[in-house]
Amino acid sequence: MSYNLLKGKRGIIFGALNEMSIAWKVAERAVEEGAIITLTNTPVACRMGTISELGQKLNAEVIPADATSLEDLEMVFTKSQEMLGGKIDFVLHSIGMSPNVRKKRTYDDLDYSLLDTTLNISAISFHKMIQVAKKLDAIENGGSILALSYVAAQRSFYGYNDMADAKALLESIARSFGYIYGREKNVRINTISQSPTMTTAGSGVKGFDGLLDYADKMSPLGNASAEDCADYCIVMFSDLTRRVTMQNLFNDGGFSSMGMSLRAMNQYNKSFDEYTDSEGHIIYG
Ligand SMILES: NC(=O)c1ccc[n+]([C@@H]2O[C@H](COP(=O)([O-])OP(=O)(O)OC[C@H]3O[C@@H](n4cnc5c(N)ncnc54)[C@H](O)[C@@H]3O)[C@@H](O)[C@H]2O)c1
Repeated sequence: MSYNLLKGKRGIIFGALNEMSIAWKVAERAVEEGAIITLTNTPVACRMGTISELGQKLNAEVIPADATSLEDLEMVFTKSQEMLGGKIDFVLHSIGMSPNVRKKRTYDDLDYSLLDTTLNISAISFHKMIQVAKKLDAIENGGSILALSYVAAQRSFYGYNDMADAKALLESIARSFGYIYGREKNVRINTISQSPTMTTAGSGVKGFDGLLDYADKMSPLGNASAEDCADYCIVMFSDLTRRVTMQNLFNDGGFSSMGMSLRAMNQYNKSFDEYTDSEGHIIYG
């Protein structure tokens, strides 16, 4: 259902790889709400993924670009303004990758050049994107910039590895740049902290199925889906949230405020079944 919340707005969506991608769902919802957009991803992702199908479906130009390259980012903002016919109203940073995770390097055995890459792709690219846009004066007064984060920025999660540090930096960039860009141009910068979601990036996390189920059982509203995330992004891009900035906003069904739920406790207790005596008492061994 469309509310025309983005009628007449121009946007750039970074990070749609395939139809599981959160950015894919955001792009679909943005166009449904009346926006015109450009899509961008790395040249490899544009070749290997299915982003061109999305471009055709949404009548959106696909611009191959590496979000860690200042030249590429300049090109994305310049071309997008030309193609869409004016300054940009909203930007989604939906980008994350850890070569340490891919290469199964644990947090106490990180490869530091790979850590540089994790931070550059997953967090510093957000700074670069905003700095390039500001220098080009490419964002409309009152525009909205969003990145996607995860609760591992605040709490420790087994297996999330150096992505936790990248997310902490990402959220900090939203605050630091949000102050400057807000003061000068009324541009809002926020992060949305999303539930675990079955996507290409998500499934790279160790024990992801278990994490997904655990988060769902812990959250009173259950996990937020990629579609739920897209809805939240639309509201944040719209004029309904003009005074919301420098925030990390949880879209997680309540997970981040929970300690223990009945459903999670029941599941947890099952693990003791094999360690009970004939009278059902737990043998702690
Ligand atoms: N899936 C989850 O469980 C989950 C939860 C919370 C937050 N997030 C965040 O959501 C965002 C989107 O991830 P997703 O889950 O949709 O997975 P995804 O794999 O579909 O998206 C990640 C995207 O990052 C792009 N990318 C990687 N390196 C890049 C570079 N150098 N330049 C430009 N793009 C680059 C990839 O091509 C891909 O499109 C990420 O920031 C991720 O950390 C995901």
